Amino acid sequence: MTDRILITGGAGFIGSNLAATLSKRTNTEVVIADDFSSGDWRNLIHVDCEVRALDCDDFDLMDEIAAGQFTAVMHQAAITDTTVMDQRLMVEVNTNAFAAILKAAATSGTRVVYASSAGTYGNSAAPNRIGSGEEPENIYGFSKLAMDRVATRWYEKSSAPIVGLRYFNVFGPGEHHKNEHEGNKTASMILQLYQKAKAGEQLRLFKYGEQMRDFVYIRDVIDANLAALEAPRSGVCNVGSGKARTFNDIVENIGKQLATSFDVEYFDNPFSFYQMHTEADLTETKAILNWQPSWSLEQGIKDYVTLLETNHRGPADTA
Ligand SMILES: NC(=O)c1ccc[n+]([C@@H]2O[C@H](COP(=O)([O-])OP(=O)(O)OC[C@H]3O[C@@H](n4cnc5c(N)ncnc54)[C@H](O)[C@@H]3O)[C@@H](O)[C@H]2O)c1
Repeated sequence: MTDRILITGGAGFIGSNLAATLSKRTNTEVVIADDFSSGDWRNLIHVDCEVRALDCDDFDLMDEIAAGQFTAVMHQAAITDTTVMDQRLMVEVNTNAFAAILKAAATSGTRVVYASSAGTYGNSAAPNRIGSGEEPENIYGFSKLAMDRVATRWYEKSSAPIVGLRYFNVFGPGEHHKNEHEGNKTASMILQLYQKAKAGEQLRLFKYGEQMRDFVYIRDVIDANLAALEAPRSGVCNVGSGKARTFNDIVENIGKQLATSFDVEYFDNPFSFYQMHTEADLTETKAILNWQPSWSLEQGIKDYVTLLETNHRGPADTA
């Protein structure tokens, strides 16, 4: 039997990596629905899939989901720029559209795996645990928390699992477009610092580079999604490395890979809201997904910089 998997937001960073991996499976067809608002067609050049330019809650698409035309929906589409402050727009695109997908999927009993975010935790004390400290500090984080809440309302009504993945700070191949938007650069600090280093620019960090984040490599994020396709029950899981690391650690590791070292300039953080310490607690993740991360920050940066040095631009494991 052929699996037919719908990936919303499949032209984006994480969606295109999922598409690249799943499309290589035998007996798997990948269909992408993306409105191309922030994604990049170049991510899909080497991915064998059906591409549709659509809103992720397109009427006809909802009918197809409700009619059981897909084995699973992997919902990645969202406004991903966390500095967008338009509350109505953020909730419409991120939360309302997801609710429509859940409704359609429950009709046919289709599995849904969706992207939540560590933004749901705001600045609560780390380690971040599912069910505690869920106090987002911006509308993006709120829209994701609202997604997790609407999902729980469908757990009992759907015959198939609904699995939410709260990604922490994801980095890796396929994210170039996030540094090329007008306005805010949203790619990982790993890519931003690497590109500055290669351009011979001064590396700058908010004072004093000791902010801690849980950086998770894209290959682990793909594996977590594959595990979610097999998860036996519904739930929300953190997807991180389980270890908080500093921005200074990133600079040091990029330096190591480029056989150099950098004098960093530290400057005042202009943001009134900024996550100072995130770290994924992985208890629920292990229980629901039977998965744990395998890439350290050192290994991830080494793999990524090796690819970047060959001018690799698309998702992992594509030409
Ligand atoms: N990258 C991270 O570190 C990270 C962290 C936490 C959560 N997330 C979540 O993971 C998911 C994927 O993020 P990403 O990093 O790949 O971002 P991305 O911006 O690269 O990808 C998002 C994709 O969704 C598409 N899109 C946006 N609105 C749409 C709509 N209404 N209909 C159809 N397509 C639409 C965009 O064009 C883009 O291709 C998002 O839901 C994001 O909130 C990402």
